Amino acid sequence: MKLDDYLSPEELKRLASALLVVLGFISIAAFFGFTVVPGLRYQAHTTPDAPIQAVQGETGWLDPTDYPAMAREILPPIDPATVMTPNPKLMARGEALYAQTCATCHGADGKGNGPGGTGLTPKPRDFAVKAGWKNGTRLEDIYRTLDEGIKGSSMASYNYLSKKDRMALAHVVQSLGTFDHGASDPKAIASLEKLFASAGEVIPNRIPVARAVAILCREYAEAKPPAPASTIR
Ligand code: HEC
Repeated sequence: MKLDDYLSPEELKRLASALLVVLGFISIAAFFGFTVVPGLRYQAHTTPDAPIQAVQGETGWLDPTDYPAMAREILPPIDPATVMTPNPKLMARGEALYAQTCATCHGADGKGNGPGGTGLTPKPRDFAVKAGWKNGTRLEDIYRTLDEGIKGSSMASYNYLSKKDRMALAHVVQSLGTFDHGASDPKAIASLEKLFASAGEVIPNRIPVARAVAILCREYAEAKPPAPASTIR
């Protein structure tokens, strides 16, 4: 039984060319399915110049306001007189720090309406409103907030800043909330004064989180031992 018994040479030729066209389509589809589409998807994930998106609720983590790189500092004890009450130098320092570090969430004038704060739950505190403060509005309360952060919220601890910087910020926060902050507890103020006067501090080297992640990834790739021979086979 031969193929020629069933098909004339012309029909055979037509069949072969139809088969060729079908195979052509299949290979084009396979090319798109296995190469082009995954390639596009990969590119969409790794566009190198895409702006870094802030991740909600995780300050500093791939955040556009990532910590700036700073060299290690050794700071002497502070004279409490220079930080317990506002003075122009301290306020200027605090305002610059506020604009750089806090305004993204709390807004330039502390109304809790910064671009980084939209969509956060709970919302960044509106410093112009007295109600709802969790730690309180007294100097020692705000210092504590900056020292420890507020658990369960995006308000992180800022204890990577020096004590003096945290005090400067506490005064700035008070200046943005011009309502009565209540009387400070003399004991709390005395213990803050003692803390400032008693010991200097060492602020370690700091690099942006994004850079730290890049370095860790590189070091891991370099340190990763080659796969044992048995798994290569
Ligand atoms: C990532 C956003 C974010 C940044 C940046 C941020 N905060 Fe906050 N902050 C919050 C949120 C959210 C709350 C509200 C927390 C809550 O209600 O539990 C808050 C609350 C506060 C409070 C009120 C605490 C209380 O007693 O209720 C103070 C004071 C404060 N922040 C100061 C600062 C200062 C100063 C900076 C800059 C060093 C700063 N924050 C940076 C999000 C932020």
